[in-house]
Amino acid sequence: MRNNAGNGGRIRDMGSADGPIGIFDSGIGGLTVLREIVKLMPREDTIYLGDTARVPYGIRSSETVIKYSLENTEFLLENEIKLLVVACNTASAISLDTLKKTTGVPVIGVLIPGAEAAVRSTANKKIGVIGTEATIRSSAYQRAIVSIDPGAEVIGVACPLFVPLVEEGWTDGEIARSVAVEYLSRLKESGIDTLVLGCTHYPMLKGTIKEVVGDGITLIDSAVETAIAVREVLETGGLQKRRNDSPARKFFVTDDPERFRKVGERFLGHGIACIEKVEIPRARQALKR
Ligand code: DGL
Repeated sequence: MRNNAGNGGRIRDMGSADGPIGIFDSGIGGLTVLREIVKLMPREDTIYLGDTARVPYGIRSSETVIKYSLENTEFLLENEIKLLVVACNTASAISLDTLKKTTGVPVIGVLIPGAEAAVRSTANKKIGVIGTEATIRSSAYQRAIVSIDPGAEVIGVACPLFVPLVEEGWTDGEIARSVAVEYLSRLKESGIDTLVLGCTHYPMLKGTIKEVVGDGITLIDSAVETAIAVREVLETGGLQKRRNDSPARKFFVTDDPERFRKVGERFLGHGIACIEKVEIPRARQALKR
């Protein structure tokens, strides 16, 4: 089993195998993780919470990110999830340890699966990581990679403009390319052979990033690696869904659902039937319906 399936067991019991997989992100970007989870485990029920009222997390202090993460987790636990996926890289980098200590279901963040895949992929032990300012400032990817391979060298670069570019739909073309060249040229010259896409939105820019860094650098998509980790934890924990009904997909947001729908449908490549707005942390009324 991968080493990121924590189970502090302090305040909740293990969820039932027929409970949904709970996923939270600061907003829309975590849909890249949901997409991979659904691709790999199409029968599983899912509940996605996008904290759209408080996005972005990537520029916030650690204290604030931990507070938001705990509140989001509480909401999902009230929905009787069997496993928690922290889809937001910033929240994974900053609050994963706290969530594992206070949550009795397995907790999987996007960071460790990405770090493990990077170590498996690199030949020259030079790994680049791109993410939000808070993720890079936390050095969490660096710590995770070096704890797996102490000989690895990790170079982190914050790429804050990538998030608004993706949300605007500008994932290719001249503007996206110029921004990518600006952020990634130095990384490319540093001799890395592996680059971790350490932010929910970056898989949407894969084509442009690949074009800029070239074929000699392998891109690690944390969303794909996280879905694989989730499947492993469900299998090892005997937590795979047993019921044979069609999968339920629930979406909650903390701000107006319309923008989430418009941008989110682009992320998922299909329509989103129902999105409910909830108050976090005062979300419990919505849960009881
Ligand atoms: N979801 C965030 C992440 O993966 C990006 C958006 C934000 O800054 O909140 O780090």
